[in-house]
Amino acid sequence: MTSVSLLGQRADLGGDFSTIANSARVYQHLLGGSAAYAADRTAADAVYETAEWLRTAALINRDFGVLSVKWSLAHGVRQFLDLGCGYPGAVNVHEVTDTDRTGCPVVYVDNDPEVYAHARCELDEGPATTVVHADFLAMDQLLACEAVRTAFVPGAPVAVLLHDVLPWCADGPALDQAMAMLRAWMPVGSTLSITHLTDHWHHATMPDVTAAFAGHGLHVHPRSSDEISDLFGDLVQQDPGLTATGRWHEHGRYVHHPPEHSAAFAGIAVIQTIVPHHGVRDRTVLGQPQPLHCERHTTPQNDMDRRTEPVHVAPKGPFMAASWTSKTPARLMDIVDDTGELLPDGRVVAPHRPAPASLTGAAA
Ligand SMILES: C[S@@+](CC[C@H](N)C(=O)[O-])C[C@H]1O[C@@H](n2cnc3c(N)ncnc32)[C@H](O)[C@@H]1O
Repeated sequence: MTSVSLLGQRADLGGDFSTIANSARVYQHLLGGSAAYAADRTAADAVYETAEWLRTAALINRDFGVLSVKWSLAHGVRQFLDLGCGYPGAVNVHEVTDTDRTGCPVVYVDNDPEVYAHARCELDEGPATTVVHADFLAMDQLLACEAVRTAFVPGAPVAVLLHDVLPWCADGPALDQAMAMLRAWMPVGSTLSITHLTDHWHHATMPDVTAAFAGHGLHVHPRSSDEISDLFGDLVQQDPGLTATGRWHEHGRYVHHPPEHSAAFAGIAVIQTIVPHHGVRDRTVLGQPQPLHCERHTTPQNDMDRRTEPVHVAPKGPFMAASWTSKTPARLMDIVDDTGELLPDGRVVAPHRPAPASLTGAAA
């Protein structure tokens, strides 16, 4: 149970938050939450007039968030970093991971001071949850801060979530550097889950949507599938690849909705386990995912998760990480370290990913 602000307290930030629309609260309003001020509600209504799919898209995005966490759990990842976590919802990451019982560490990060305040109250619930008020574009500070460093078992995979966050960041060196630093930090077997607004299905109307947001001071950047793929860098996308968010997972609640209702692409990619082989980076399958049989949480106040039938999470794509548990031998980390290289001329580049000091503490 740790909360830390790298951005100062609300009072230090100046400005009247209640008169300025904010992406977190507009989104929360679309989801039926009550944290939005009049400025947020007005902005949401204005955008909704240009894009009736907006609310469904927000619901689809939240549904995918739950499925994404289950997908990573099913593949043995036990630590979670939720960047741009937003206001607490009906089902949050640490509830999907059952962190109270399993001890799976979950770090929530958001740069909005009001989200931070809510997250401290509602998300930071036990010894394995951490809430950080930080700008993920200052990735160096975020990853270096003690709360983040001590939250995770060093060297064990981390599932990183960036759901509907990157559209709120403009292209440029700040975003490129933050993403590069994040990917370099992620241990082998880690997963990166991204959802991202796109004009792919809304060529004609997206300019009106972005203009409506901009009219309320909110700058959103829809990206093409190629641009979103680039955000994954050299991570390997898992089946079915970049797909409309509602259709990414066969058990998604919105799988039968047309892709334009998602208005966003989703993808999950993995830091591949690669063994250097004559200068060619080969895939090596160390383990297959275990089908995850789990009950959906039922929450009467939210219609996203009312279904109670079991969800089997059994992705088809190849995945390189074996199940990382407290029993995973540290030796395995050496085997799968992908940073060493055998150059064509026979020279060897030693691995440089930090070896795990200890793998104890991760939940089984
Ligand atoms: C649309 S909400 C998405 C919330 C959540 N990820 C979800 O999928 O439900 C976007 C969130 O990203 C946060 N955010 C935007 N830019 C950020 C940044 N540079 N650093 C940290 N958080 C950011 C906003 O404050 C907001 O809470």
